[in-house]
Amino acid sequence: MIVEPIINGLIAKTAHPIGCEKSVANQINYIRSKPAIIKAPKRVLVLGASSGFGLSARIALTFAGNAETIGVSLERAPTANRTGSAGWYNNLAFKHHAEKSGKLAINIQGDAFSEDVREQVIEAIETYFEGEVDLVIYSLASRIRPKPNSDCFWRSSIKPIQRPYKGHSILFEDSSWHTHTLPPAINDEIESTRKVMGGEDWESWIDTLINSESIARGCRTVAFSYIGPESTYPIYLDGTLGRAKIDLQQTSHALNLKLANFAGNAFSAVCKANVTKASVIIPGFTPYLCALYKVMKQEGLHETCIEQMYRLFADKVYSESGHVPVDGERLIRTDDWELKPYVQRQVNDILSRMNAENFAHIADYTSVKNEFLQLNGFAHDGIDYSKDIDLLKPS
Ligand code: NAI
Repeated sequence: MIVEPIINGLIAKTAHPIGCEKSVANQINYIRSKPAIIKAPKRVLVLGASSGFGLSARIALTFAGNAETIGVSLERAPTANRTGSAGWYNNLAFKHHAEKSGKLAINIQGDAFSEDVREQVIEAIETYFEGEVDLVIYSLASRIRPKPNSDCFWRSSIKPIQRPYKGHSILFEDSSWHTHTLPPAINDEIESTRKVMGGEDWESWIDTLINSESIARGCRTVAFSYIGPESTYPIYLDGTLGRAKIDLQQTSHALNLKLANFAGNAFSAVCKANVTKASVIIPGFTPYLCALYKVMKQEGLHETCIEQMYRLFADKVYSESGHVPVDGERLIRTDDWELKPYVQRQVNDILSRMNAENFAHIADYTSVKNEFLQLNGFAHDGIDYSKDIDLLKPS
């Protein structure tokens, strides 16, 4: 089959297997060009390992840090006439490259919220990690979470709180500009979003690992958060997402106390806004990303997920000094460059002028869309996209 990009609004419906392999290989090559992370942990569990920050963290720790990894993700496998999701191909590509370099890479595909996946992970830790993990990365981005012992779900809603939100999105499907107004969330939506994206599931994973005696001495856990600049507060920090992230950040303190019993720590790392499957669907985020990419590239400060994750682990979580720099709220900040006042001043100036006619000229829509296509295996140089490929055996 010849695989072409099919995008529905801001969601990719197809992924190119060979292009996904190239995206993973590019990240590995970047990491191979960087100094080793000497103090990196050996046995790492990544929850949400197939794309975005989780995949980049896995690559950084494997190829700069010599880690062995168990990666959990929920992805769609291909059929003979339908492509798998990008993350499905990323998992295959990562495993291939890691094993070629002599590193253990176990992929567990399934719902990370389920008991079954927890059991598979504990069994894998027993079998491959001598029963213990040194680092747990929590990088799930899910819209729903099953309620325990029931057939029902909590569903997240990305909405403002108290007042309506008016914003714009640029759809990759046809590069069109859309204006939308969202009503404020009701209490049930605020609470459901906290249940899905807050810290409760992270805490329950750590409890499960403590109860199964799978936590190694000195074990750390890191989950990713976002705060963003004032221009995004109405839809992010002051909205349902922000409430959930504050819950996640508070959970890091509770987990830090629990892991102190193992001489370990828990951190919430506040990352920069990047193009990922999860971020582009946030209302109002595509114009912000286009303005941010333009300014950060101009200023020589732009980082993709892999650059963020390398800096996070090399300079912060596993720095050579052993010191983990945190802010007054004990958060690790890798959003520091995004939030520099001179960056945000320029971003705000672009956003104030951006409209349906000029977004492609005054901001960096081209890079943002290109990065989105590449996440799904498209728009890479050196790949013959007109070639017929077997979706089940792509290489
Ligand atoms: P992503 O969509 O690229 O990755 C999400 C991962 O979660 C994938 O591996 C997916 O398979 C996995 N996943 C989702 N539901 C699952 C389930 N039920 N069971 C097992 N695996 C499941 O998302 P991204 O952007 O990398 O997000 C990861 C974290 O980073 C999120 O907490 C997000 O809020 C945070 N973050 C993202 C930023 C961004 O700009 N992309 C900025 C700051 C924080």
